[in-house]
Amino acid sequence: MNQNTNEKFTGSLGIILAAVASAIGLGNIWKFPYITGVYGGSAFVIVYLLCVTLIGVPLLLSAFIIGRKSETDPVDAFKKLSPHTPWFLNGWLAIFTSLAIISFYSVVAGWAIYYAYLSATGGLVGLSPEEIGKAFGTFTSSSWQPLIWQLVFMIATSYIVIKDVRDGIERYSRLLMPLLLVLLISLDIRAVTLDGASVGLDFLFKPDFSKLTVEAVLSALGHSFFTLSIGAGTMITYGAYIRKKDNLLPIVAQIVAADTLIAILAGIAIFPAVFAFGVEPTSGPGLVFITLPNVFNQMPLGQLFSFVFFLLLFIAALTSAISLVEPSVSYLISGLGWKRKKATICVSLTITVIGATLSQGNGILNNFKLPFYINGIFQKMDIFGWTITLTDQLLPISGFFIAIFVGWTLDKKLVQKELSSSGKYKTGYFQFYRITIRFIVPAAIALIFLTSIFGLFK
Ligand code: TRP
Repeated sequence: MNQNTNEKFTGSLGIILAAVASAIGLGNIWKFPYITGVYGGSAFVIVYLLCVTLIGVPLLLSAFIIGRKSETDPVDAFKKLSPHTPWFLNGWLAIFTSLAIISFYSVVAGWAIYYAYLSATGGLVGLSPEEIGKAFGTFTSSSWQPLIWQLVFMIATSYIVIKDVRDGIERYSRLLMPLLLVLLISLDIRAVTLDGASVGLDFLFKPDFSKLTVEAVLSALGHSFFTLSIGAGTMITYGAYIRKKDNLLPIVAQIVAADTLIAILAGIAIFPAVFAFGVEPTSGPGLVFITLPNVFNQMPLGQLFSFVFFLLLFIAALTSAISLVEPSVSYLISGLGWKRKKATICVSLTITVIGATLSQGNGILNNFKLPFYINGIFQKMDIFGWTITLTDQLLPISGFFIAIFVGWTLDKKLVQKELSSSGKYKTGYFQFYRITIRFIVPAAIALIFLTSIFGLFK
């Protein structure tokens, strides 16, 4: 978005809100709970928290450095900071990854809209836990229903991206993010007062490392990138809109804190209910859509809460989706000189077609499996799950190269100057940051990655 680089977020609150709105999304409320269920709970949560603080924080700082210094889209950012080198390929990798993510993301966001509609029309009221589970299965495996809702979601996303409403995002993030918080806390209160809630809380918080597998560690790593929107160009693109005088570290700290808080609150809303209603914690992508309707059915004003919850899930997804479409659109505009409208429509159409195809992995293409080499063996997955797993791996690869780029290729003085905003702020943490980004982050990513791909410690 070269054309708009003089348009900066209004102060650090603006960037915090926009980045938080990107970070908080389906990753926190849909993906975190279900992978926590699949990978056995508490121990997975601890690894996730470690990844977020030790790897996520320095990488988010680094993405902002690349973005703010270059003030352009992810591909051109690398070209600008390191001309005539292959580094721009990492920008391409980021853009490819963002498209892969938004393709399945838009499908799940479509489910959220459908559930908001179902709640508004009372379609879930009075159903037994089994019936709720069945309803979800029937819906997602239908050959056309999910497509309509995905389309609705993509139209909403394009509508905002076309208008280039960073002010709009900023303004309504300000209103909606606090609302999301209030709502989640109300759900938490209901969830922890359910009979048998403690089993769910133990599952989430009592560490049981015997359940931890190498695959779980890779998934925690992948998810720490996903939840912080790192590795798909979003934070580089947003970094370009941060004012030169803002202090990056507190911005990053607040984004990470807000994002983690929402994920944990979502876990607390969901797991007590999972155990109280006998849903399998390992039930995968459907977890939120199956457990929460049970909680709502047990609540005073449950139907209203249900509607508001799924509406907010949709909105949280929308502000994230915008940040996933934006890197490609910004490349088409600044790299190829396209008009924003044409760029947005082309990108959105492509995403809709790919997403609609992936969605059939739950439906008519359910028997079509793709191989994935993980844990030393080829596993077969439907195309929907396959894409989610693929992005879990692409994000750390892109993160690895961001670390190498900022740690080893960029000039040390330039990096320090960005962190201190040209000497305005103290950077007592600089040495620590530098060692982390040069050694610890790449080594950790490489180790976890290779171990899990080749199944070294089975
Ligand atoms: N972080 C968002 C979520 O948790 C998803 C997202 C938006 C994302 N932009 C991204 C993930 C860039 C990876 C990279 O729902």
